Amino acid sequence: MTVLGIRAELLAVRGDPAVAGEEAIVHHADGLIVIEDGIVAAYGDHAVLAERHPTLAIEDRRGLLLVPGFIDCHVHYPQTERIAAHGAQLLDWLERHIFPAEQAFADRAHADDVAGFFLDELLRNGTTSALVFATVHASSVDALFDAALARDMRIISGKTLMDREAPTALCDTVESGRAQSEALIARWRGRGRLGYAVTPRFALTSTRAQLASAGELLAAHPDALLHTHLSENLGEIAAVGAAFPEAADYLDVYARHGLVGARSVFAHGVHLDDGAMARLGAAGSAIAFCPTSNLFLGSGLFDLARADARGVRVGIGTDVGAGTSFSILHTLGEAYKVCQMRGASLDPFRALWLATGAGAHALHIADRVGGLAPGQEADFVLLDAAATPLLARRTAGLPLAERLFALQILGDDRAVAETWVAGRPAHRRQAFASGSDV
Ligand code: GUN
Ligand code: ZN
Repeated sequence: MTVLGIRAELLAVRGDPAVAGEEAIVHHADGLIVIEDGIVAAYGDHAVLAERHPTLAIEDRRGLLLVPGFIDCHVHYPQTERIAAHGAQLLDWLERHIFPAEQAFADRAHADDVAGFFLDELLRNGTTSALVFATVHASSVDALFDAALARDMRIISGKTLMDREAPTALCDTVESGRAQSEALIARWRGRGRLGYAVTPRFALTSTRAQLASAGELLAAHPDALLHTHLSENLGEIAAVGAAFPEAADYLDVYARHGLVGARSVFAHGVHLDDGAMARLGAAGSAIAFCPTSNLFLGSGLFDLARADARGVRVGIGTDVGAGTSFSILHTLGEAYKVCQMRGASLDPFRALWLATGAGAHALHIADRVGGLAPGQEADFVLLDAAATPLLARRTAGLPLAERLFALQILGDDRAVAETWVAGRPAHRRQAFASGSDV
């Protein structure tokens, strides 16, 4: 058995602070986390736990803040190399930049190359779990899962289903989409820390028959998630209304095909009215709040307060390549600004909850990750509030809440000193040219 301890300042948010209050926040200024074979065995004050484990090998990370690994609830790995592509809004951007890029994933070697880079980029940014779009090619999922298996990361993905309104090279059929999805589920079920998501891209790129087939797949595989886009951009919403005149609204297109349930994760949900939000809440579905993407594509401002009022689960998504950063810290900073524009305030502890425990609940992995509670998997990040001269100057002597907020507003991959996956180091920040390191 491998046993080790890490001494650092510990912070985890184990419930929604908006509901549970301060009780949800677990903080040990001088803490110790004990890890046995990749699982958290103990978590608490160093003084108490060190005495209980007198022979424990302890790595000293005092000066760093240890938090649960971040969970990215919506990101596209094949768009990694198309981040920062100038365009108009969603539909134009897809056509000009994204569909051409995704065609290259017919080549397995290209998919392997990008998948490895993508997962390393997640780790550099402190992200240890993610719900990931691949492409229509089944082998693009194999490439991602192989790379995730090699890194022991908790990754959920699935083959994109798309049988219309896309280049022919990116289209499947109802039958091939179904058969390839079934084959992927059978091939990958139970391996490593991987999970499968039935993934119709969005309403516009699937026929009614394919959406119905996706609903059947979901019903046949109760361990799979449903992952798609919903009510992101006004141009898209108008096109969905025209394509599905029988539906009451965008969400109803999915509901009619059995796609709105407790295991459904919808990216964006920027333009949902109260009625649609209430239906999502009643179904137990989750929304991935993707602020950098919604700003980049001019889609709009997600209404977190409306989702809260209707009991909709919310996680954080970077949505790279429409999203402009792999950093969940940076994404939380942008989420704060979006909430400001909506006349609401996002508390830094709640923001951390959204990026960790809430994301785990949205992806149905909260029994395994998200809070670093004893028995959970030891996925965590060591944050450095003095990572840059400005951060160091701004956070010197600050209490925890203000330090955490400064990390969200000013921090990014530079503030991620180390990322650990299943109790093993997976990323360590490089020394700067000046020679300073963790
Ligand atoms: N809607 C359908 N496809 C996409 C995509 O690739 N990115 C975003 N942001 N929205 C989408
Ligand atoms: Zn997306």
